[in-house]
Amino acid sequence: MPFRTIIEPFRIHSVEPLHLTTEDERRHALEAAGLNLFALHAADVLIDLLTDSGTGAMSRDQWAAVQHGDESYAGSPSWYVFLEAVQELFPFRHVIPTHQGRAAERILFSALGGPGKVVPNNTHFDTTRANVEFSGAEAVDLPVAEALEPSLVHPFKGNVDVEALERLLAERGADVPAVMVTITNNSGGGQPVSLANLRAVRSVCDRHGVPLFLDACRFAENAWFVREREEGQADRSVADIVREFASLADGMTMSAKKDPLANIGGWLACDDDTLAERCRNLLVLTEGFPTYGGLAGRDLEAIAQGLREAVDHEYLRYRIRSTAYLGEALAREGIPVVQPIGGHAVYLDARALLPHVPPLEYPGQALAAELYLAGGIRGCEIGSVMFGRRPDGSEQPAAMELVRLAIPRRTYTQSHIDYVIEVCVEVARRAPSLRGLRIVEEPETLRHFTARFAHA
Ligand code: F0G
Repeated sequence: MPFRTIIEPFRIHSVEPLHLTTEDERRHALEAAGLNLFALHAADVLIDLLTDSGTGAMSRDQWAAVQHGDESYAGSPSWYVFLEAVQELFPFRHVIPTHQGRAAERILFSALGGPGKVVPNNTHFDTTRANVEFSGAEAVDLPVAEALEPSLVHPFKGNVDVEALERLLAERGADVPAVMVTITNNSGGGQPVSLANLRAVRSVCDRHGVPLFLDACRFAENAWFVREREEGQADRSVADIVREFASLADGMTMSAKKDPLANIGGWLACDDDTLAERCRNLLVLTEGFPTYGGLAGRDLEAIAQGLREAVDHEYLRYRIRSTAYLGEALAREGIPVVQPIGGHAVYLDARALLPHVPPLEYPGQALAAELYLAGGIRGCEIGSVMFGRRPDGSEQPAAMELVRLAIPRRTYTQSHIDYVIEVCVEVARRAPSLRGLRIVEEPETLRHFTARFAHA
């Protein structure tokens, strides 16, 4: 193409109205929500960057596929359409559909976890960690050192620290039921894992006889980064790179609410017959019959079509570029963001922006609340609120204090993002006057969803 501008490779077919609010209305909404953005009415949010999960716009062809949904209880044609689309990219012998990613995690760790076990991962996502710990097992994060330095530029900050993994397996290999690798590393900034790193992880796993599972929610974005950044990968198709990732693993958990462009869904897949049998038995208890899991036939169809669109190069070029557009603009304005810009989100470094707020006064939460107050933007704290409460009940600062601005797929236009940039610049200007928070009410686990806050 002779022109530089990377455009949205689609036009808008159906629109949803946005609701404008005044700063006063937002102040009231924030107070009623106990300064927890999860407790807001979404209608009071102008630009919702809380998550990229299930919030994307489905395509015309996905909506058409919905009409093909066959709701037979067992053996629905929609199940076979789904199975074929999944195995086209992830050719595991067993595919077990679930209503979303965490249901796959719950089933996997009910089968593999338990007291005394330890599960390593580059970085567990919150529900993954919670499901490992709920089984009684220990969740250990082993990211490369570069991952913990927000401003450091490195092409594959999602990589696993292979030496640390080797040490863990040498000491406690018998207690490790599986090694997980999250592509892309969501909690670590949406950063990709290289093929070379996954091959190295595979060989460590082989030496110790431990299976390797992918948490593959953002597999297509990860593969795009591999194609762009890893030597020798530039001429391969994304689908081909994805199949190589799958070939290096023994199984996977998946949320179809991310890269597969669906509003609900997920699956668990593996090659091991015995494990699959145990997982299917657990599936029937809480999700449903093995040919639909927790999903309607129409959902299975939407996911199958979404999977085909997810690996389209024009779509991925736009997707990754539009996330970088936001991140690069903020960085140009001097706002500290995790570098390089990840696939699905821009992560503001709240520790750097609010150095006067101590970690256990939750600088990320304070910043997220202010972004909502100033401009109706909803982001998500990924810091000491999300990860600070340890299983033994103690509280410790998280490795980083971030606010994630996640970009729903195919949903917002460039002018929405230009508005977000303006609001962030205004909030960064106010940063020195922002106060920390304290928690006034919290549940036992996953407290970030329901905790209530007050100013410290
Ligand atoms: N693994 C990763 C890496 C995730 O990002 C998520 C969800 C899950 C597993 C669980 O999948 O939501 O379908 O149950 N992440 C969402 C987010 C919620 O906002 O990042 P789920």
